[in-house]
Order: sequence, then structure tokens, then C-alpha cells
Amino acid sequence: MSTLKSKKAIITGGSRGLGKATAIAFAKEGIDVAITGRTESVLKETVTELETYGVKATYAVFDVGNYEEVKTNIKKVIDTLGGVDILVNNAGIAAIGSFMDMEVDVWSKIIQTNVMGMYYVTKEVLPHLIEKNEGDIINVSSTAGLNGNANISAYSASKFAVIGLSESLMKEVRKHNIRVNTLTPSTIESDLTIDLGMLEKGSDHVLQPVDFAELILAGLKLPRRAMLKGASLWSTNP
Ligand SMILES: NC(=O)c1ccc[n+]([C@@H]2O[C@H](COP(=O)([O-])OP(=O)(O)OC[C@H]3O[C@@H](n4cnc5c(N)ncnc54)[C@H](OP(=O)(O)O)[C@@H]3O)[C@@H](O)[C@H]2O)c1
Repeated sequence: MSTLKSKKAIITGGSRGLGKATAIAFAKEGIDVAITGRTESVLKETVTELETYGVKATYAVFDVGNYEEVKTNIKKVIDTLGGVDILVNNAGIAAIGSFMDMEVDVWSKIIQTNVMGMYYVTKEVLPHLIEKNEGDIINVSSTAGLNGNANISAYSASKFAVIGLSESLMKEVRKHNIRVNTLTPSTIESDLTIDLGMLEKGSDHVLQPVDFAELILAGLKLPRRAMLKGASLWSTNP
């Protein structure tokens, strides 16, 4: 039997893409899952799919960049799940544009969502993990968080910040038996990469969301004495 069965997970941005693939992989392991996002219709569809695996599945509609909404809704999903063991901070947005051309509000929204959103959600979940003296937090950065590139300054700045936030948090909470894993995946097929024009839909040689989900599960399945501190997922097809 999976050691993960009956654990309870929150996945931000769990309605689509990498977050949805992770939610399905978790449900297949018997993990109860709460997914979040801003679009209720998509969340509902994904919850219906998750329930087919026989787990408890729920959703909450909120913007991770709004702290008041985060506080109310994280409490709500933890109450519904009956606790929380695993948090996947996955919700994120991106935009491409030169440093001078990108509008100030677009730049700010990327930082507010990708960095402040992760901070707000973690701040609300962490006390529950500390109280249990056990937990897992998976924070999604990107290869853009390791190297800057032209026309992606806001996204890259946000993902560099995620690494700083995540590694600092790891050093604070490891003593509470809480593992913090900072992931830096390369390009994966999803709405995000298709909408940015980075990939065409159905390119079978590129990384798929399920590959990312398998990496997260592999980290979670390590004995509790061991922690995956971080990992970069790359394609074998450059
Ligand atoms: N795909 C890649 O190649 C790649 C590579 C490296 C890292 N990443 C990172 O992986 C994460 C997931 O990316 P993805 O490719 O799966 O993107 P995606 O397909 O666009 O999905 C993004 C998810 O986040 C939710 N979301 C976006 N903004 C939100 C907000 N303000 N509040 C709450 N939920 C929000 C979306 O739902 P709603 O729109 O309904 O809110 C959706 O569920 C992101 O952090 C991204 O930066 C992706």
C-alpha cells in the first residue's frame, strides 16, 4: 500500500496543466486533494475527474495574490479535507515582453501572483504542518529562476525570488520534519507554454505535465529521513 494513502494535499493552480497532472497523480496514490484556481468551471471539471479515483476532492476559487481571499479559502479547504499534509505551490503566470515594453501592471501582477501568492498560501498552511511536526511543501520555480533571459524579466525575477523564498523556508522548517522541495522544470507542454507561443499543442517529444507529477511523487515517496531539496526536470530532446 502506498505510504501516501489518505494524506491530504492542497495544490494551487490545480485545475489545469502541471497542477492538474499532479492532482491526478496524487489521487491515483489515494491522496485526498484540494485544488485552487480562479476559474470555477474548470476547477469543478477537474474535481469530478479526481473523484473517479475514489478520493475526497474539493476546490476553492480565489486569487493567490489576494491575502484576504487566501486566508478565508485556505482555512475552508483545510476544514473540508480535515487537515493538510502536503502543499504544492504551483499557481503561476507568465508574459513575454521587453523590459521597456511590458506594462508596469503586467510586471507587478506576475510578481504578486508568483511570489506573494506563494508566500501568502504558505503562511496560512505552515502552522498546520508545524503543529503536526510533519509535512511537505513543493514550490514550483523554473529554469527561468536559475538564469535570466531577454523578454522575460518579470517571470524570471519572480522565479529567482521563489528559489530564495523556498530555500530560506527549507532551512527554517526542516527541524519540524517539514520537507521543502524547490523545483526548477524546463519547458513543459501546458496552456502557459502554448499561449506564450513556446510550443505547439501535441508535440509528443516535449516534457508533459505527467512527467512533472512523477517527479513530485518520487520526492514524496522518499523515506522521511530523506528530503529532495530541489530538482531540475529537463527533456532528453534538446
Ligand atoms: N509549463 C512550463 O513549461 C513550466 C516550466 C517551469 C515552471 N512552470 C511553472 O509551473 C506552474 C504551473 O504552470 P502551467 O504550465 O501548468 O500553467 P497553466 O497551464 O497556465 O496553469 C496555471 C494554473 O494556475 C492557476 N492560476 C494562475 N494564476 C492564478 C492566480 N492568480 N490565483 C490562483 N490560481 C492561479 C490557473 O488557474 P486559473 O487561470 O483559473 O486561475 C491554472 O490552474 C507555474 O508556476 C509555472 O510558472 C511551468
